[in-house]
Amino acid sequence: MNILGLNAYHGDASAALLVNGSLQSAMEEERFTRLKHQAGFPALAARHTLAQAGLGAMDLDHLAISRDPSAHIHRKLIYALSRGPSLSALRDRLWNVSKLRDVKTTLADACGVPESALRAQVHRVEHHRAHMASSFFVSPFERAALLSIDGFGDFVSTMWGVGCANTVTIRDWVEFPHSMGLLYTAITQYLGFPKYGDEFKVMGLAPYGEPEYLDRLRMLVRVKPSDGFELDLTYFVHHAEGVSMTWESGAPTIGDVFSPKLEATFGPRRQPGQPLETRHRNVAASLQALLEEVVLGLLRALAKKTGLTDLCLAGGVALNCTMNGKILAETPFERVYIQPAAYDAGTSLGAALYVKHHILGAPRDFVMDHTYWGLEYSRAACRAALEAQKLPYRELSEEALADQAAALVAEGNIVGWFQGRFEWGPRALGNRSIVCDPRNASMKDHLNRRIKHREGFRPFAPSVLEERAGDWFEQASGSPFMLMTCRVRHDKQALVPAITHVDGTARQQTVSRTTNPRYWSLIHAFERRTGVPIVLNTSFNENEPVVNTPEEAVACFLRNDMDVLALGPYLVEKQRVGL
Ligand SMILES: [Fe+2]
Repeated sequence: MNILGLNAYHGDASAALLVNGSLQSAMEEERFTRLKHQAGFPALAARHTLAQAGLGAMDLDHLAISRDPSAHIHRKLIYALSRGPSLSALRDRLWNVSKLRDVKTTLADACGVPESALRAQVHRVEHHRAHMASSFFVSPFERAALLSIDGFGDFVSTMWGVGCANTVTIRDWVEFPHSMGLLYTAITQYLGFPKYGDEFKVMGLAPYGEPEYLDRLRMLVRVKPSDGFELDLTYFVHHAEGVSMTWESGAPTIGDVFSPKLEATFGPRRQPGQPLETRHRNVAASLQALLEEVVLGLLRALAKKTGLTDLCLAGGVALNCTMNGKILAETPFERVYIQPAAYDAGTSLGAALYVKHHILGAPRDFVMDHTYWGLEYSRAACRAALEAQKLPYRELSEEALADQAAALVAEGNIVGWFQGRFEWGPRALGNRSIVCDPRNASMKDHLNRRIKHREGFRPFAPSVLEERAGDWFEQASGSPFMLMTCRVRHDKQALVPAITHVDGTARQQTVSRTTNPRYWSLIHAFERRTGVPIVLNTSFNENEPVVNTPEEAVACFLRNDMDVLALGPYLVEKQRVGL
């Protein structure tokens, strides 16, 4: 049973492949096109997932798409009729239907085979069911409460239910135009961060402010304790005018979703690039507080309704690590699982799993405990990339590479660490990472200014040896996907200033010796030298998608201020080679 899942014609296009029911690979299209949040059809991701498994499109039994234009159709019609027909909505709808109808043809074209050769049965899986499936079916739980929460997908922003064995049962949902994801986007735009996916910048800014505007922001949303929430639509335009969005190809863009009333209430919007003032920081803090208040309230209600203590979370809002870090303390849930690609990319995986388990009835047999589902490159490919740039290198054993790279990190060098298969989801977790010394307070500014070229307030996250995490962080359970913020232990904060955020928290990744032995060895070697079982970990990129190939890693290394590159078994030191 070979199933290809696709997230197509939405942001973060992606493909995930199950071969004989087992996950073989999962990749985002942006890694190949080099455009962040690439939308459109994931032609390259689909091709690479198949090629890596030695399969062709004709070997697929099922094709699962994480969209269903017919979902909630009566509600869409009622909404459209109550508002009067909108030409742009009608055009979008026809476009969606026609694209999805042609998905087999598009896949055949992408793979260079005639459509008649494809025997796969096509399944359209509603967006939020795909989100929920992407988390629950790879979680360790036999039974769990499920919450999917994002901007919108298939006319819905929030859906909850229960997962049991190989089924997902929906309990209720919140429909367009009400959405906490969209509210977060609106304030993100207001604060001068207009790009698709900029919400995490506001999450990083929030700890610098006070929630001074929380009361006023509460006017934007009315919580309905038993069944969700409603926005005060006078602060928004998406429901009336529609929003200018591009999804077809390239990076998605989204027009303003807030109305003039928002500026009348909170003052003029900040334009991109303008200085960040106390008012902006306080609006960010208030927004984060409001999101937590509403979502944690939903979760408390969900725990009460289901009586369950295990939770699977999905959807773009589930990437809000600060909120996630409060779930265990502030709701009855005792365990939480969030699949690493919680945002829309993850729906390709979710659609494939929904078909496998819920539709075809296959039993569960897998827990996702790592993110290394992308492509990997041979030693020869790494060597060729170095030789193409005439870079002298040393070839080292795994042990020597970890030891020497750790020594260079401890001496204050910034090291590019490129190993194995690239990660699935937005975070680099030790295979396409830049690592440096967490003890050096100036490292954060240096990285933001000279390597990443991004806003100075943005924090950096730590990778910590799993077995030492409890000594350094106030979180009992592991956090392998860097999706939960927790407090750095008070007595340790001064020892690791580069990864301790202004509010004393960190978004830590716990590193397992089993799932990533090479990265574990690097951190272990760093601990042997310094007594600190932690490195600062940021993604291997520079205002672009995380690097995929050895050539991209070498190019990134050469054009910015990195000192060292560990490319597979090869070590290059800029100073030593006179660059
Ligand atoms: Fe979504």
